Amino acid sequence: LRTQVGIVGAGPAGLLLSLMLQRRGIDSVIIEARDREAIEATIRAGILEQSTVDLMAELGVADRLRREGVVHEGTILRFGGRNHRIDFKELTGGRVATLYPQHEVLKDLIAARLAQGGRILFGTKVNEVADVGTAAPVIRFAGADGAAGELRCDVVIGADGSYGACRPAIPADRRRDFLRIYPFGWFGILCEAPVSSEELIYARHERGFALISSRTPEVQRMYFQCDPNDSVENWSEDRIWAELQARVAGEDGFRLKQGRIFQKNIVPMRSFVCEPMQYGRLFLAGDAAHAVPPTGAKGLNLAASDVWHLDRALGAFFADGSTALMEGYSAAALRRVWRAQHFSWWMTSMLHRFPDASEFDDRRQLAELELVTGTMPAATSLAQTYVGMPFG
Ligand code: DHB
Repeated sequence: LRTQVGIVGAGPAGLLLSLMLQRRGIDSVIIEARDREAIEATIRAGILEQSTVDLMAELGVADRLRREGVVHEGTILRFGGRNHRIDFKELTGGRVATLYPQHEVLKDLIAARLAQGGRILFGTKVNEVADVGTAAPVIRFAGADGAAGELRCDVVIGADGSYGACRPAIPADRRRDFLRIYPFGWFGILCEAPVSSEELIYARHERGFALISSRTPEVQRMYFQCDPNDSVENWSEDRIWAELQARVAGEDGFRLKQGRIFQKNIVPMRSFVCEPMQYGRLFLAGDAAHAVPPTGAKGLNLAASDVWHLDRALGAFFADGSTALMEGYSAAALRRVWRAQHFSWWMTSMLHRFPDASEFDDRRQLAELELVTGTMPAATSLAQTYVGMPFG
């Protein structure tokens, strides 16, 4: 098998890039370990930045997003038992966030790519990414039928997530990993209940953080800070609701609308960056290169930003062989990556309860939340980063 751009991973990064490259007439093949049904059924992120929505619209894959996505013109920071609203639209000159689940994005991108005749090899496990230091890299894989295969290409894109085969293909002495692990995780639930709040609620409480989000008018997504080593079996439905209600309780009498919980999971929280995001003809994008704690919803959007840069770099390379943008890819992408790292770390540390927090830390955290919700410059900074600056 041969193509110009071999892409490992049919997540947001890989699929968006294949669609962008198609616009330039550049051929790509996507290799994906999981099968299509599994990808399209896995509940992950929910919030799209304005630039991610704009990119999907440009690519002609935003029809369903326009119909079913829910525009959020602001968000709620809840502390001291009261809601404090950040008005994205007003503070950013009209930019907004859109709630549209990642697996719905993936359904739309996969359908669009297959409709173009694009090749996506599902259920295909990469065994080795080799010769990336040469002009003829190769991806060796085991196909869905178990048979070994090889994809020869000019460029390999590692968009295979945090635990994929691509990042390790950069020699350890040619990269630096930056890692921070948080002493808590998120307990996530999906439940059959009506919407509790029109806008997302990021709640800071003495018992720990909670986030009230949504998936559809009938299905709600909620999270609460937990011990990362806890187990979902320890949490009955009653215990979960008691904890969530306690964390959003306040003088205003706010209550969550409860319903049957049909999914529970615990996600660990870490900040991670691999530098550089390139080695020879191998380019990393999305979670393969970096991970953020979920507070602030930057993960999927960073993947979109990475491939926006890659699209331009590969466009120049395949047009006239120029390598300047390819060589500048890592530095260009890392600027936004580190801004998002700062934002995600900041939102996380402002809203969560750290096990070693003192009363001083509690008061300081509340003062910071007062600053962010009570002054224009601080609120504007949060709003701008949340809805995202234009790519580039
Ligand atoms: C969701 C997740 C986030 O991390 C966030 O900041 C907002 C929403 C969600 O899953 O809906």
